[in-house]
Amino acid sequence: MQIGPYAINPPLILAPMAGVTDKPFRLLCKRMGAGYAVSEMTSSDSRMWKTKKSLWRMDHEGEPEPVGVQIAGADPTALAEAARHNVDHGAQLVDINMGCPAKKVCNAWAGSALLQDEALVARILAAVVSAVDVPVTLKIRTGWNRDNKNGLRIAKIAEDCGIKALAVHGRTRDMQYTGDAEYETIAAIKQAVRIPVMANGDITTPQKALEVLKLTGVDGLMIGRAAQGRPWIFREISHFLKTGQIMPALGPREIREILLGHLEHLYAFYGEQAGVRIARKHLGWYAKDCAMNVSFRNVVNRAETAVDQMRLAGEYFDALQSGAMADIPFAA
Ligand SMILES: Cc1cc2nc3c(=O)[nH]c(=O)nc-3n(C[C@H](O)[C@H](O)[C@H](O)COP(=O)(O)O)c2cc1C
Repeated sequence: MQIGPYAINPPLILAPMAGVTDKPFRLLCKRMGAGYAVSEMTSSDSRMWKTKKSLWRMDHEGEPEPVGVQIAGADPTALAEAARHNVDHGAQLVDINMGCPAKKVCNAWAGSALLQDEALVARILAAVVSAVDVPVTLKIRTGWNRDNKNGLRIAKIAEDCGIKALAVHGRTRDMQYTGDAEYETIAAIKQAVRIPVMANGDITTPQKALEVLKLTGVDGLMIGRAAQGRPWIFREISHFLKTGQIMPALGPREIREILLGHLEHLYAFYGEQAGVRIARKHLGWYAKDCAMNVSFRNVVNRAETAVDQMRLAGEYFDALQSGAMADIPFAA
């Protein structure tokens, strides 16, 4: 898949997820086979740009090309300014969030709430595209609600405004995350536009990835929640699409190595205190399919230092590896 000058290979993309797709996680997913990873959304409100959180979100040092940054907001001028600001800080692709149903975003009439106002969508897209000389992409849902599935019209507006690629989550805004993603609307959008289209929503296994590709004919697949605690899903999908074979499952030893490396990067990026706190949710996700997950979380969440967190996480996966779960506190 080509987005402007960037070849996205493989066309498997980590979806933007606030609170999840920070730099350590993006780097890890890219290392584990994602062809591209979009940052967490950054606010278009310039008063927020100096907060610690924004500075973390705008830090792209050492990130492999292309660096993609998502912006969120509702005011065309502010979004254009945010796009320029992020490009000045290393963004090589700017993505506009019209897909997120989160309250904080929608209260400010942003995210997927914007889909209701097609004229405003056009003004925002035109303003951002003309503000920067890097490719601008757009992330949407299939529409506002079941009776207003205007994803196709938004896609055409996007193409006309110079958007270089489109990601479509197969749910309407009012569905939030309930029900199942549907792919018929994504297939119709793919048919209707010439720009690359990425399908998103509920792609959780290599088999599902193939099914969605067949149903939609899209250029790329965007994966969100299924990558939490399983960043290697990208190479599993790649392997399956190339060979038709399922890769052997990772063992506790390999998961341990990936996880401990991830923890170290979190401490280095955020500092120990914030790093330990942010690591907790990732630890829960890594262990979610493993034995003793609940007791693991209870024990590991009590760790207050990096050393303790690393030790407890390491011990858990060592015990899984040796089959000696009864010998460690998780089994209590
Ligand atoms: C915790 C979380 C945070 C999210 N944050 C964003 C965001 O910042 N911007 C955005 O466009 N979508 C956001 N999303 C939506 C995802 O990008 C994606 O569209 C959605 O999770 C469906 O894909 P999936 O089924 O592969 O997870 C978020 C989703 C989750 C679960």
